[in-house]
Amino acid sequence: MTLSTTRGALKYEGKAKRVYESGQPDLYIVEYKDDATAFNGVKKAQIMGKGAINNAITSAIYPQLEQAGIPTHFLAQLSDTEQLVRAVTIVPVEVIVRNVAAGSFSKRLDVAEGTALAVPVVEYSYKSDALGDPMINTDTAVALGWADYEELSHIRELALKVRGFLTPFFAARGVRLIDFKLEFGKLENGHIILADEISPDTCRFWDAETGDKLDKDRFRRDLGGVEDAYAEMLKRVVLSTE
Ligand code: TMP
Ligand code: ASP
Repeated sequence: MTLSTTRGALKYEGKAKRVYESGQPDLYIVEYKDDATAFNGVKKAQIMGKGAINNAITSAIYPQLEQAGIPTHFLAQLSDTEQLVRAVTIVPVEVIVRNVAAGSFSKRLDVAEGTALAVPVVEYSYKSDALGDPMINTDTAVALGWADYEELSHIRELALKVRGFLTPFFAARGVRLIDFKLEFGKLENGHIILADEISPDTCRFWDAETGDKLDKDRFRRDLGGVEDAYAEMLKRVVLSTE
């Protein structure tokens, strides 16, 4: 296969990434930005080197997910901040998987952060910046035509399979995977595959020994040491798989 790597027209710009056409209709180029936002874009900053780190971490993990039997959009890392991916239509349902109570779950249910969950909890939100990604259930997604029940049940199964790979993967690197967010895309033939990133922007990572936060909560909560936390996760994931 010849891979075209020339950036074409901008297809989509999100808060942390841009998606470009590639010259081949079934392939897109994703560019990771240093921009960071929180609270639905209310808080904004640049995290130096974040784009390259999140690209490197995602590019290291996705091929391993494929090997573990999870179909993904990832094809190749093209540069520090770019990836070649399969063109998909993103299903506008964000899938959050929780191993341990934290963040909005802790707030909503008044459960202390760090409380173990007896079973993994899968939650769904509607991917809408305008609405602040409101929580939904699967009936909502079907009722509004975003996916059918079969697709949603497949998505849930894939999300738990991703958890089954990632939890021991990070544990082996001294990191507790507290929770994470996934997005899925649809190929032209209707197949659902994993899309988007897996990075400190989209996961909660706590150091297994010290409990230190090694993710975007350092930015969201003004804890300081944001760049160092991202660099530490790069070291644990990428340097330890080389
Ligand atoms: P939450 O506890 O704030 O709902 O976050 C759950 C997980 O989802 C956490 O690992 C961070 C990630 N996340 C995103 O990737 N994007 C978002 O917009 C939000 C709010 C959370
Ligand atoms: N990315 C989201 C936003 O800007 C929120 C987050 O990651 O906390 O709003």
